[in-house]
Amino acid sequence: MLLSKRFSYERGIINPFNGDYMIIGGSSSQKLAAQVAKQLDDYLCPIETRKFPDGERYIRIKEDVEKEMVIIQSTGYPQDENILELLFLIKNIKNLGAEEIKVVIPYFGYGRQEKRFKKGECISAANVAELLEDSGASEIICINLHDNQICNFFNIPVQELSAMPLIAYHLKEKLENPLIVAPDKGALSHGQEIANILGCPCDYLEKIRLSPDKVETKVKNLDVEGEQAVIIDDIISTGGTIVNAAEILTQNGAESVTVSCVHPVLVEDALLKIFNSGVDDVIATNTLTSEVSTISVAPLISQALK
Ligand code: R5P
Repeated sequence: MLLSKRFSYERGIINPFNGDYMIIGGSSSQKLAAQVAKQLDDYLCPIETRKFPDGERYIRIKEDVEKEMVIIQSTGYPQDENILELLFLIKNIKNLGAEEIKVVIPYFGYGRQEKRFKKGECISAANVAELLEDSGASEIICINLHDNQICNFFNIPVQELSAMPLIAYHLKEKLENPLIVAPDKGALSHGQEIANILGCPCDYLEKIRLSPDKVETKVKNLDVEGEQAVIIDDIISTGGTIVNAAEILTQNGAESVTVSCVHPVLVEDALLKIFNSGVDDVIATNTLTSEVSTISVAPLISQALK
């Protein structure tokens, strides 16, 4: 609990916040951090992050830190810069006197490299976990990790939250009779989570990944004639998975195809390719900032911090 009302050096005023934490929004998640701070009536700590002329990162915490701190920072593109900034922030507030540091990582970069697929490969997700812990994080809060085995890379508490219910409530407002389709077996549990909330059917397609940017989806006759199909995935990266699935659904006579995901990584022209494949709408959360990040995960994070 903040013991005193905080004096803002920046604005020269006393800030009447009553929450439990001081929140820091890293440069990739500032709006989200502001939303969470507002919902919890917590204090949003002013920071300065910029680059020196040679490209090195400069970070300054502009106020005295509290004992209980929260940092919110997604580690999407540019992943290496965002991860390094997060490590610097954790280490810095630890050195400045923070005792409990909850680190919220709405999108966990390198999460798809959670095992050695080929001999000699780096298990990047495990290395990132180790760096976070060594820097001084006391707890990690993530949203829909690509593989929940990543939680086991940490020796500190990890909360993995699901944004699927938020997506379900959003779909409920938009579509009367949706049919949920997972574009591969891995996404089936996400699809089922949403279908259970909406009380609607769920099916899945079979996908084989040929390379990081090439997937093959088995053409499967689905009973989607006249249906409002909704493709659900955790991540949309190159868009290849969604394009294949959308084409199959359209060929099978779906009335409309809506696409939804938690993490809109959206590499290059992924959105354009998706809309060109006949998709009517794309809905994502704001774990990453994008044109389609319409659902805020702030309530989910606020609830977890309460
Ligand atoms: C894979 O297992 C994930 O759930 C997504 O399906 C995948 O990351 C999407 O990648 P892309 O958009 O490049 O097909």
